[in-house]
Amino acid sequence: MKTSVYNCSVIEIDKHHHEKGNISVIENNNTVPFEVKRIYYLYDVPGGESRGGHAHKELRQLVVAASGSFDVTLDDGEVKRTFSLNRPYQGLLVVPGIWRELTNFSSGSVCLVLASMEYEESDYIREYEEFIDYKKQQK
Ligand code: TYD
Repeated sequence: MKTSVYNCSVIEIDKHHHEKGNISVIENNNTVPFEVKRIYYLYDVPGGESRGGHAHKELRQLVVAASGSFDVTLDDGEVKRTFSLNRPYQGLLVVPGIWRELTNFSSGSVCLVLASMEYEESDYIREYEEFIDYKKQQK
């Protein structure tokens, strides 16, 4: 299925207020519409650096600014949408077939990613031209 940036959205994550600090909880197939197979996080991103710059064929992800802030620009080959993430109780759901760039990392920010598959390099599309061709082939 040909996905679009409009299939991607920010979801609210369960948040428990507590005077000694808050807790947010993410549960498989409840908070996220997939089974989490892998968790990774980006941190110590140098100022001005960008990450991403690729698309996935099958991988679904929930991207959370666990600390600090950054921008995620999604691109389906036709439309681009930029989301500013800066709340640990919100997450951006990214469907397969979407090119993404992560920019404007604040100092000390942590980008937490929950993923639907284990790491598989063959799931990546790392060339933008190849991504555009891939999207054109899809119905
Ligand atoms: P990549 O996903 O390209 O980085 P980003 O999108 O954050 O810029 O990953 C960078 C490298 O890290 C990749 O070449 C291999 C390694 N890597 C793993 O080994 N396992 C993983 O789960 C991820 C996400 C990356």
